[in-house]
Amino acid sequence: MADTKVYRATTTAPVNIAVVKYWGKRDAKLNLPTNSSLSVTLSQSDLRTLTTATCSAAYAGQGDSLLLNGEASDVSGARTQACFRALRERRIALESANPSLPKLAGLPLRIVTENNFPTAAGLASSAAGFAALVRAIADLYELPDTPSQLSLIARQGSGSACRSVFGGYVAWRMGDKADGSDSLAEQVAPASAWPEMRAVVLVVSAAKKGVSSTSGMQQTVATSGLFQERIRTVVPDNMAKMEAAIAAQDFAAFAEVTMRDSNSFHATCADTYPPIFYMNDVSRAAVRAVESINAKAGRTVAAYTFDAGPNAVVYYLEKDAGIVLGTFSSILGAGVDGWKGGVSPSTEQAADVDAT
Ligand code: ADP
Ligand code: DP6
Ligand code: CO
Repeated sequence: MADTKVYRATTTAPVNIAVVKYWGKRDAKLNLPTNSSLSVTLSQSDLRTLTTATCSAAYAGQGDSLLLNGEASDVSGARTQACFRALRERRIALESANPSLPKLAGLPLRIVTENNFPTAAGLASSAAGFAALVRAIADLYELPDTPSQLSLIARQGSGSACRSVFGGYVAWRMGDKADGSDSLAEQVAPASAWPEMRAVVLVVSAAKKGVSSTSGMQQTVATSGLFQERIRTVVPDNMAKMEAAIAAQDFAAFAEVTMRDSNSFHATCADTYPPIFYMNDVSRAAVRAVESINAKAGRTVAAYTFDAGPNAVVYYLEKDAGIVLGTFSSILGAGVDGWKGGVSPSTEQAADVDAT
């Protein structure tokens, strides 16, 4: 009788919010970026994806499937297929080396995934989503791959996902090889190196963005002159300054680079033709609120950043929680749907919840 056992693994992955942004692909097929980027992975007790991967001979004839927030999602896209293919290839290698292992690579995969925060709204759902998907299947297949190797696979699902494989402060090195084998994430510092770091997430709108990150960055690469300057000089400079700021735990320097890089990224969006606007009036009010918090404090206590969406993430240090959260609680109701303060960097890589 056929083995109808259901093999299962469940994992979570946190979001990461870039302080030097990835925006632009030099190779859309392999998902290779035009520039390196750097982010802080937030704690998975806050914004996270929870994903269960199962496979079974009992699913024979059904094909692979993905249920995202309770709705059937297309798995035929090139990015999802690239992840499935890379993970299956690794399982096949394992099965050939150990003939006693169950033959899982050929079985249909069922992915059930849920984000506990707005999807496709500029809060890095594709980052947590693909990091969790890759990790869940790697666990299901009992792959021996390192987090670096998994980051290479997650990158093919969504660029920003390669950074959510690690906790703490994480760089995605753009690499220069044509096959993308050196375009992967690495931890530049663990969360414990700068444990006072916090973030508050302001949900200005939970609605799905009008222009996806994938499409927006391709339009920018194709039409913006300012973008060329960004990747040639602005980003390399910001990467060097950001790594120095993190190494020195210099919040004023961290904050200035974070805000300048967010402004630079949104300027290239405005320079895209036709222009792309991710920030709205409430986003701009949050920028002004951060400026006034810093002016009132007489030093830099808060730094804003916006991904491809209107929602603000504000970094601050624990000792300044009172000043920062106090101000943001007073602008709640002025167009902000919700918020989550006191979010800290994740101390670990995407965690195994359960693997059977
Ligand atoms: P965001 O700013 O939220 O990252 P993107 O436009 O980059 O928005 O990506 C959104 C897309 O990421 C979704 O439409 C979906 O295809 C994918 N995605 C989001 N969450 C998940 C998940 N948990 N599992 C798999 N894919 C996901
Ligand atoms: C503005 O990683 O979502 O959040 O690789 O096409 O899936 P794809 O794009 P994605 O882009 C993220 C853009 C950003 C900046 C960042 O996270 O670095
Ligand atoms: Co994304």
